[in-house]
Amino acid sequence: MKTHSIAVLPGDGTGPEVVREGVKVAEAAAKKFGFKIDWHYYDFGGERYLKTGEVLPDSEVEEFRRYRTIFLGAVGHPKVKPGILEKGLLLRLRFELEQYINLRPVKLYRTVDCPLKDKGPEHIDFVVVRENNEGLYTGAGGFLFKGTPHEVAIQESVNTRRGVDRCLKYAFELAKKRRGGKPWKGLKPEDVSAGKTTQLTLCGKTNVLTFAFDLWERAFHEMGAGYPTVKRDYAHVDATCMWFVKNPEWFDVIVTDNMFGDIITDLAAMIQGGLGVAAGGNINPEGCSMFEPMGGSAPKYTGQNVINPLAAINAAGMMLDSLGEHAAATAIENTVIKIINTKIKSLAAGKMGYSTTQVGDLVAEAVA
Ligand code: IPM
Ligand code: MN
Repeated sequence: MKTHSIAVLPGDGTGPEVVREGVKVAEAAAKKFGFKIDWHYYDFGGERYLKTGEVLPDSEVEEFRRYRTIFLGAVGHPKVKPGILEKGLLLRLRFELEQYINLRPVKLYRTVDCPLKDKGPEHIDFVVVRENNEGLYTGAGGFLFKGTPHEVAIQESVNTRRGVDRCLKYAFELAKKRRGGKPWKGLKPEDVSAGKTTQLTLCGKTNVLTFAFDLWERAFHEMGAGYPTVKRDYAHVDATCMWFVKNPEWFDVIVTDNMFGDIITDLAAMIQGGLGVAAGGNINPEGCSMFEPMGGSAPKYTGQNVINPLAAINAAGMMLDSLGEHAAATAIENTVIKIINTKIKSLAAGKMGYSTTQVGDLVAEAVA
């Protein structure tokens, strides 16, 4: 039987509670679809840091390199100064393992969960491809005259042609394969007659960030010439935020830099029903990828069995898809949609009408 070896990093806060349900559902899918998963648990996070002062030893980075997949719960602890765990664990793994894509499918499952109540699942179904290793996140820059009245702080955005190109390539390939090549309904008749089946929007700020997004824009159009079925579109990041709320049906696949991607994917999570369902992947197409619910560690709900595990379950689905278990991934997603539409009252923590464990059980039983 095919066996996948997966590293599990439950992390902090509600991370362990939601990861438990993700593992439960993935196990149910494995049984049903005939494969096996070996889970290897690691206890990195706030608790371990507070006890030992250790965030992520170098030897452990090497250990993670041996995996194709990591399942991550949440990073962040109320007793640890912000930045230590984020940079030392999450960003360190993203950078060291060259998970240069951050992939965020955005799909509305049920109208009541959306603040844009006249929009339905047919209007909100796009994917954000966020560059995950460069931009403002590299730590380039520094202080001058720190602590004096003349203090200067500089934070630089790093955009390499190699980094931008590999991100664009992932986005164009994803766009090309989306819906198995069946045309996207958002296309204009003239696009369809020109042979387009899908759209890729570059989200940037070419009117102000005239170096970084000049490079992005040139690279986008140069590479796009090799993808004749992908319609190229451009939107400024501020306008993208506006349209996510006003006209989310205008988006199919979006590609953007690290900082803009961070911001627009939080907004995107809200229009799909909230952090209770939003999942993401940190992807190295040739190496080790890491999948996580978007929600964070939610200290206020920790240990109460009330947090919504569907985001972690969706992350488990994305993870199985990346391992080639497409049937299992589709079954998980369809089950999540069914459970949301027939059972769960609200996607918010504590208001689901079920506990965390019960939601995991519902999905696992239905998948099995
Ligand atoms: C995310 C998070 C991280 C980011 C934080 C925790 C460093 O907000 O995954 O979007 O900014 O990338
Ligand atoms: Mn974020």
